[in-house]
Amino acid sequence: MSLRLGDIAPNFQAKTSIGDIDFYAYLGNSWGILFSHPADYTPVCTTELGKTAFLQEEFAKRNVKVLALSVDSLEKHAGWINDINETQHVTVGFPIIADEDRTVANLYDMIHPNASETFTVRSLFIIGPDKKVKLFITYPASTGRNFNEILRVVDSLQLTANYSVATPANWEAGEDVIVVPAIKTEDAIVKFPKGVKVVKPYLRYTPQPNLD
Ligand code: BEZ
Repeated sequence: MSLRLGDIAPNFQAKTSIGDIDFYAYLGNSWGILFSHPADYTPVCTTELGKTAFLQEEFAKRNVKVLALSVDSLEKHAGWINDINETQHVTVGFPIIADEDRTVANLYDMIHPNASETFTVRSLFIIGPDKKVKLFITYPASTGRNFNEILRVVDSLQLTANYSVATPANWEAGEDVIVVPAIKTEDAIVKFPKGVKVVKPYLRYTPQPNLD
């Protein structure tokens, strides 16, 4: 059964490139990103994992722990990580799950048989500290993900989890945000002392509330 937004992300135990892990124990109270790629020693995946390693500090700043997954073996992962480090000029420090028996792939519905019977598609799940699925996106094997976009949606998810705001199209951290419709304008003016710009009664902007 496929997971939906708000569902509890299932726990699992897995072999990974940094040792055996229990998913929940690995996440602790952090946010998590679990993403699959079709196979080791493939070009697009090499760049994706390189980009993820390059952005490790950005993920850490946001209290996000990252895990990658493919259905290849630990031995394959080890050799491929050397290649990623060499070609992408990074050090892969996050775990890559060796899901040879497809336990995790099946749990997270990462195999889409009409795309490939054997390999995982590019699924990505963002999981909150409450272990609930906050976002998922799925790309085909031929399209590499934009990891700047993934950081951007983490920023939006973390902001909107804590304030009564939503983020408009193409929003980037630091830009004005939208006051959620559930808040009346007279209450919004009190709640958001930096100001509320009313464009329409249902379209109200305020500066990002968690910035000085
Ligand atoms: C890749 O990751 O490079 C890739 C994998 C499967 C099909 C096409 C590209």
